[in-house]
Amino acid sequence: MSHCEFDWHDPIDWNGPGSIAGSECLGGDRLERARYATFLTNYLAAEGKQRNYVLNLNAEWGAGKTWFIKRWYMELKADYPTVYLDAWQQDFSDDPLLTVISSIIDQLKRIAGKENPIPEGMRQRLLGLFKVGGKLALKAAIKKAGLEDENFSLEGEEANQLVDALCSNQKERYESIQYLKQEIRQWVEGAVGLSNGELDYPAFILIDELDRCRPSYAVEMLETIKHIFDIKGVVFVLATDTEQLQHAIKVIYGDGFDAESYLGRFFHRRFTLGSISRREFIQQAIVDKELQLEHVNVWPEITDSQVLVNVLTAVCDHFLLSLRKTEQVFDRTIASIINYQGCTLNLIFLVYLFSLCEKNNGDYRAVADGKMPITDNHPKLKGFNTLTSEYEEQHFQCFIKAGSAIGSYIEDVDYERYSNPFIDGEYMVSLRSILAITYGSLFESMSDDKCSYRFITLATDCVKRMRNLTVEENTILAEKELSQLERRLKTYKNLVELAVHLD
Ligand SMILES: Nc1ncnc2c1ncn2[C@@H]1O[C@H](COP(=O)(O)OP(=O)(O)O)[C@@H](O)[C@H]1O
Ligand SMILES: [Mg+2]
Repeated sequence: MSHCEFDWHDPIDWNGPGSIAGSECLGGDRLERARYATFLTNYLAAEGKQRNYVLNLNAEWGAGKTWFIKRWYMELKADYPTVYLDAWQQDFSDDPLLTVISSIIDQLKRIAGKENPIPEGMRQRLLGLFKVGGKLALKAAIKKAGLEDENFSLEGEEANQLVDALCSNQKERYESIQYLKQEIRQWVEGAVGLSNGELDYPAFILIDELDRCRPSYAVEMLETIKHIFDIKGVVFVLATDTEQLQHAIKVIYGDGFDAESYLGRFFHRRFTLGSISRREFIQQAIVDKELQLEHVNVWPEITDSQVLVNVLTAVCDHFLLSLRKTEQVFDRTIASIINYQGCTLNLIFLVYLFSLCEKNNGDYRAVADGKMPITDNHPKLKGFNTLTSEYEEQHFQCFIKAGSAIGSYIEDVDYERYSNPFIDGEYMVSLRSILAITYGSLFESMSDDKCSYRFITLATDCVKRMRNLTVEENTILAEKELSQLERRLKTYKNLVELAVHLD
């Protein structure tokens, strides 16, 4: 069966294993992932029919693995027995193999139809697998694996004896694994065979969120599930942040350990989901959310969505935020500006605070409480300049009223008057400079009609000889407007701290 490209344009509800009806919506595809999924489906279906296959789906944290796996699951399950496992939700269990096998069997059983009884042999084998552990954990695992029925209840004395026996006996573990592999295979056959031709080989077992687990658990999970990887007609897909996982492996096996080749041994192939730029991501998010932002009271004025794209991209790129964090900052920003009433907000500073709060809470506290010095002269405390230089500089287009906001005349320090050489327009500005001016203006009380020495020097220089300004000089043209915005730190802090509750 060869698939045409999936249509992932519209949002859908996630109703896979572990879902609560209507509680999670998978948004429309903003990253053109549908074609990757089509390609992978065709490729893996062909590979997996004949043999087993293990694919590592790699992308950094927040780049869209979970979204991809869930959306893909919704397609795959129509044509193949498909299992979805959230490794993170299982992280509390101390036996990854047990967790995985019981979940796989549980789901395959549902696919094949609930009415099929668990074969007697399999129950024994599964029970034989359980690692030495607390009795309660063992009972919970037995329950989860669905091994109870009218002939075998966890409440009876018989079960207590069995649990006792299992707790002291693990030598059959290896044999049990071999046996269970066959059983998984049989459940897959059951699912295909009982589906009246709707389902075909291979079965897909998608394991997600390994990157969110404790490192030791993630590694143990890999080490143990490799024992069941080689089941004919079964394709395993493991989503990981591979670089981070390699890190975890080095923590366990030591720095000199070749984590890359070690990981390579588990997988036939690695497939990396490329991430798109934050700009594209934000652009798409704005289109999807159909926002009405013309009336919000912020600077720069949101005359069209590009203004918002420019500001958000500059700040999120500055901090190299993941797409997940970018989306969070985006949502929180919108939520706080949309109902805001008061003195015009500095949108750039607000987005900056949201992002900083995600990136480094200590620095955020220092800035939001006004405890971080503006300059770097303090013997102990980090200055704001140092903070902004720890992250990437960004340049972006911004509309500055360099004519109308500043006025027709400029007075120099000797009260000599010059006509203003600058005009209103789009200027390329520096994020670091905007932030420095903003942060500085929170502490100095600059009177309304005064211009800074820096600005006057620039203006008088340009009166003599108009020239192209540097990006930093462009930013100076915004000083006046910046000084007229909301300057109470408390206002920004309150907005940020209200919206961070939005997850
Ligand atoms: N193709 C996509 N289209 C739209 N949004 C996406 C897409 N992929 C991911 N996202 C969004 O990006 C964010 C991070 O994705 P997620 O799947 O949780 O990342 P990961 O699992 O790699 O950490 C989520 O908010 C998700 O909704
Ligand atoms: Mg994830």
